[in-house]
Order: sequence, then C-alpha cells, then structure tokens
Amino acid sequence: MFNGIMAKSNRAISQDVKKITTHVLKAMKLQGEKISMLTAYDFSMAKIVDAAGVDIILVGDSASNVMAGHETTLPITLDQMIYHASSVIRAVERSLVVVDLPFGSYQGNSKEALTSAIRIMKEAGAHSVKMEGGSEIRESVERIISAGIPVMGHLGLTPQSIYKFGTYAVRAKEEEEADKLLEDAKVLEEAGCFGIVLEKIPAHLAKRVTESVGIPTIGIGAGPEVDGQVLVLHDMLGINKDFSPRFLRRYMNFYDQMTLAIQNYIEDVKTLDFPNDNERY
Ligand code: KIV
Repeated sequence: MFNGIMAKSNRAISQDVKKITTHVLKAMKLQGEKISMLTAYDFSMAKIVDAAGVDIILVGDSASNVMAGHETTLPITLDQMIYHASSVIRAVERSLVVVDLPFGSYQGNSKEALTSAIRIMKEAGAHSVKMEGGSEIRESVERIISAGIPVMGHLGLTPQSIYKFGTYAVRAKEEEEADKLLEDAKVLEEAGCFGIVLEKIPAHLAKRVTESVGIPTIGIGAGPEVDGQVLVLHDMLGINKDFSPRFLRRYMNFYDQMTLAIQNYIEDVKTLDFPNDNERY
C-alpha cells in the first residue's frame, strides 16, 4: 500500500497528462518526478514503448549500430533518420518524440542545421530534435529554436565524435573537461534547449550539472542524481548480447527467449507438429 502511494506520487505529473510536452518535462524536473526515456526506431517497438508509458521516445542515431549493424553512428543519413522517425511517429500517442540530427547534417553551419531540423519535423512529423555538442553548436541551436523547433542537447560521451575521443571510455574525469562540460550545459540552457542528455560522465559531475541548470538532464551512465534516465531499447531488453557496459541494466533476456521460440518453431515444422488441425483452413 505504502509502495503504491509512493509510486503514484512519483508519477503524479506524467500520469495526469495525455501528451508529454517539453513543458511537462520542465514541470517534472521542478516537482522531482524522474523522466523515463528509451529509444525506438520502428513502428512495432514504438507502439509498445509508448503504450507502456515511457515519457520520451528517442529515435537515436544509435539506429546506425542497432538497426543497420554499423560500428559507429556516423554512417546513418538524414533520409534514413527520417524513415525511422516517421515509422515511430505513426505509432506514438503520448510520448514526446526526439529525433537525432545525424552526423554531417548540422556541423557545417547553422543554415544547414536548420534545413536538416526542418526536414525531420516536416517529413517525419517529429516533435523535437537532439544535437551533440556545446558552445560550438550554439548558433545552430538558437537558429533551430527560433524557427519553433525544440532542441535537446547531448554532452559527455558524444558518439558522433568517437574518432576525436578514440575510445568509448567515461568522459570528463579531469577537471578541465568537467569545467568545460558544466559551461557547455549552461550555454545549451541559455541557447534555449529544453533538456540535455549526459552520457557516460562521473555521477558527481552529472549531479553538479543537474543542480546548475533549470532544464531537465537525462543520464545514460551518469548516475542517479539527474532528472531522468535513457537506455537503448535493444540493450535493456537483452536483444544485444555482446554489449555489457557497467551502466546497463537488462530487464529481459530477449536474445535467449527469441532463440528458444525460433528453435521451437523449427522443431514443430520439421516434426509436422505445426500447423495442426486448428491451424488450417
Ligand atoms: O542515439 C542514441 O541512442 C543516443 C542515446 C544513447 C542517448 O543518443
């Protein structure tokens, strides 16, 4: 009973709204209700994730790894992101949908960034976009927001810069990089971002950032003292067996369960058990 009451009060704001907006997210931060965020890249998965009640669905450029099997997020194109995003949008009724601007679609200049963001909003029907980087993308963020498009920032481990970093290790462990990240978070807030993803940074730094900005922070490998958490859906469902970073909690062992289901099907076909008398016309 006590747990029931706690669970309800911890969800008070998000439970009372039909649609999650950037304003709802801000209210959730102010009230201390944690924000849940997961990726989705296709209609069927997005339908389940939305109906389960997640607050934000991220059409991440991690689709490049998860859906297309690339080693990095760099190869995915703007057209491919629009394809994934429009599939997700067709499924979603309640969640706020954030779509990654892919590598190469915004780094050139702010006009190019705006053109890419407009394509995502117009052709996919997205609700907002996400961009990696701090002060270096400020002008682009401001230009996109001035066109009426909400922008989410992304700091810490920014996978589009993997060849600059050289590894997927934790970022901002040293003071200089930590100070720059804190500054960048403030720049993104001033530029008008409605939230910031903090990826793979020390928990104490994520806490400092969260306390320093008025917009929600969403962590992945950034500890508990942020305003919300995000995971890649395929990782948390255990579809992807070979990826086991410390921050990942697996809620299912989908790989093994799916393998078993497929093996049972093969067995049933081979032994003439499927289809049976009820499964024919
Ligand atoms: O592309 C993605 O899935 C992301 C998350 C890891 C935050 O950016």
